[in-house]
Amino acid sequence: MIVTARIPRVRREVARWRRRRDRVAFVPTMGAIHEGHLSLVRRARAAARRVVASIFVNPLQFGPRDDYRRYPRPIARDRRLLRGAGVDLLWEPAVADFYLEGHSTRVTVRGLSEVLEGASRPGHFEGVTTVVAKLLGVVQPDVLWLGQKDAQQARILEQMVADLDLPVRVRRGATVREPDGLAVSSRNAYLGGEERRQAVALSRSLTTAARLLRSGERSSAQLKSAVRRVWRDYPGVLEGDVAIVDAHSLEPVRRVRRRVLVVVAARVGSARLIDNFEWEPR
Ligand code: PAJ
Repeated sequence: MIVTARIPRVRREVARWRRRRDRVAFVPTMGAIHEGHLSLVRRARAAARRVVASIFVNPLQFGPRDDYRRYPRPIARDRRLLRGAGVDLLWEPAVADFYLEGHSTRVTVRGLSEVLEGASRPGHFEGVTTVVAKLLGVVQPDVLWLGQKDAQQARILEQMVADLDLPVRVRRGATVREPDGLAVSSRNAYLGGEERRQAVALSRSLTTAARLLRSGERSSAQLKSAVRRVWRDYPGVLEGDVAIVDAHSLEPVRRVRRRVLVVVAARVGSARLIDNFEWEPR
């Protein structure tokens, strides 16, 4: 695995592969590599000759009260895991080379970026779209791999790619979970023992909602009440939020008639956790 911080090196290696007509897949990450990231690398690997990954804790997508400074950065472990999963090139840009002095462009996907997580984290998705647009500009992959875990992020980036006619296919990998159901996340590292036990409330409540949908429930109000009832047994779940939105527009729906996203977010201890599932009536 090639490891580099330098943009010209990334461009040179990828250009070499492209001349040989090798398909190039790209998995952007912020590091603290876990099974969710690795599953994306493996899927990327299965569908492309070359896999590029990046590790970049992007300051632009963190708010002033967010966890930018304390975000975990276990770089040696990250490299080992990514190498083991079959990454060919790992790009680790430094903040100062990535956002040069005077950098002033922002990429914004309006509407989709302002709802759900975007409503509680102003500027967050603008930071995500700006960094991913830049990463894509350097790597120029054939395929971009994103996780369903961050469904709104994936939806926004799909819209960006379509709107800007970027020559890349976007694919999503399924959410990887711990044995008890908790969605794997770098932020789970912030959870203490009891908090970790409480955190399972998010996926449990989604399982309840999925069961109701399968048995014919179509009312968003009923589904959301059922989710909140699950949380009552978990006093560690704070500021819980649940929404049922159209999977494409991310607009709330009153009744489930088309493909929807059931999304939950909550604070457990100092960690803000999110989870979701997609569901389509047949
Ligand atoms: P990060 O949180 O490191 O996630 C990198 C990729 O892994 C994202 O596409 C995310 O959706 C996916 N992922 C995270 N947890 C997952 C899980 N449990 N199962 C499947 N996939 C999972 O998301 C970001 O970084 C950043 O916003 C980024 C896109 C890199 C831009 O900075």
